[in-house]
Amino acid sequence: MKFFVDTADIAEIRDLAETGLVDGVTTNPSLVAKSGRKFTEVLAEICEVVPGPVSAEVAATDFATMMKEAWRLARIADNITVKVPLTRDGLKACRALTKDGIKVNVTLCFSPAQAILAAKAGATFVSPFIGRLDDVSIDGMALIADICAIFRRYPAFTTEVLVASVRHPRHVVEAAKIGAHVVTVPPKVLRQLFDHPLTDKGLAAFLADWKKTGQSILGD
Ligand code: E4P
Repeated sequence: MKFFVDTADIAEIRDLAETGLVDGVTTNPSLVAKSGRKFTEVLAEICEVVPGPVSAEVAATDFATMMKEAWRLARIADNITVKVPLTRDGLKACRALTKDGIKVNVTLCFSPAQAILAAKAGATFVSPFIGRLDDVSIDGMALIADICAIFRRYPAFTTEVLVASVRHPRHVVEAAKIGAHVVTVPPKVLRQLFDHPLTDKGLAAFLADWKKTGQSILGD
């Protein structure tokens, strides 16, 4: 399972990339607004820090302008993945960009039918938003299970399921159990994945006992 980090905060990305566990980055217009940075500049920086796919979303809603924006974004760095919304124009743009060799992440997916269309349009990734479904009392993880089951029936579909709108570590674990290809997690959730109180407690006990031995591994 690949781990992407869902943020446009370059300090967070640098910090988490140091773990060697970040395979890519996803951004969206809200995350860019939160960063307070110029979109193209922050994207160029992110692409230098993380060599994997970095999703950058178009802001237009019509096909022609989406295509212009997509090319502008794609020229920022080789590892840019253009993000388009799951609309008719978005999927039309996805198909055209894919044919031209640009990687595309189709975002704002909320149904299996939409995911099938994204796969048929040749998307590199489709992003089902599970947290936003959970927020309205619809089981987001059931959507991931449905999409993964459908894609497995059609080996010709190369689109990867990118689990988005992740709220907590359990979302990550459940997505992994289903076999989703990628999960994009907010920095806070990625940090939470490392933590377990019994790890902290166990380590403290080991260190206390080690101290009693009076030895040093590097001291001999
Ligand atoms: C994915 O690419 C989106 O940026 C993101 O996961 C949206 O999550 P949210 O529902 O927490 O805004």
